[in-house]
Amino acid sequence: MKSYFGSLPNGNEVYKYKLTNGYMSVEIISYGGIITNINAPNSKGKDTDVVLGFNTLDQYIGEHPYFGAIIGRYGNRIANGKFSLNGIDYQLAINNGKNSLHGGLIGFDKVSWSVKELNNNGDPGIKLTYFSKDMEEGYPGNLQIDVTYILTKENELKFFYEAITDTLTIINLTNHSYFNLGGESSGDILDHFVSINANSYLPVDENLIPTGEIRNVKNTPFDFIEMKKIGLEIEIQNNQLIYGKGYDHCWVLNDYGEGIRKIAEVNNLATGINMEVYSDQPGVQFYTGNFLEGSLKSKELKKYEKRSGFCLETQHFPDSPNQPSFPNVILDPDKKYETQTWYKFSTKKY
Ligand code: GLA
Repeated sequence: MKSYFGSLPNGNEVYKYKLTNGYMSVEIISYGGIITNINAPNSKGKDTDVVLGFNTLDQYIGEHPYFGAIIGRYGNRIANGKFSLNGIDYQLAINNGKNSLHGGLIGFDKVSWSVKELNNNGDPGIKLTYFSKDMEEGYPGNLQIDVTYILTKENELKFFYEAITDTLTIINLTNHSYFNLGGESSGDILDHFVSINANSYLPVDENLIPTGEIRNVKNTPFDFIEMKKIGLEIEIQNNQLIYGKGYDHCWVLNDYGEGIRKIAEVNNLATGINMEVYSDQPGVQFYTGNFLEGSLKSKELKKYEKRSGFCLETQHFPDSPNQPSFPNVILDPDKKYETQTWYKFSTKKY
């Protein structure tokens, strides 16, 4: 279902698309490919909106930390916005301290996507397309990107990312939804239970750039192998948690290279809403909304205070173009970039 959502200052119209499957619904706008709402029933059958977002286009155009958006060309940080490819040095826009974050000043979260509605064997979906020109935001290569969202009968919201380029470039696409399985206006996410299928994570320096070390999570606050409350160890005085102001790190997922596998699960005891995450990616940035500070208004007009949402951004490792030991993020003109991530919703009591 398609409806008019508003117009951008340049006159471009923005539409909202609603995918429903009888159990839950997902709403997406053509600006930034932003997921504005995910409504899923709680254990009592009451519809609960589990993603942070806004009611109006103006708020999405304004300042906000990437709520619900498609992130690219390079999700996460590139140190000093510099990298080199084929002997050529590139300089990206610096928009996060000394670094380039999430694609630069006008990343894929701030552009209009063309949208085609789909029916995938009875499952509703949309395909979003964007053409990013050679040297846009400093990245080489004309890049054609397709992102497909499908809502299945099994209550999975599936994301399929595809891209092709005409020149060697780098790419790392993800989605930046902030979840709160207690409801988007229900306060902080500290009592959610989370598990992440990762035996190690990437420690960072004070600028949140990975040091290159791959550190075992054992006996650290980063151990989420078993379901653990987000809030249990988040305030421990540990350099890593101080740098991130909480969790804002990339976990090194187990079984990379073996296709799509379950990488994380989250549960909210109050609503019983459960979310499983599946992906073929090597990493996930688990970010606990540490930089939210009450200036943004929720859909129910409450304040989004610190840690009122969490993100599980499936991706390649931050700063990979400058870290030869990390899996490679180079896209060759002869190859196609393809990756997928699924979020599966249910209710479950732990
Ligand atoms: C990412 C980063 C965080 C923060 C948010 C947006 O998840 O890792 O540090 O910048 O985006 O606020």
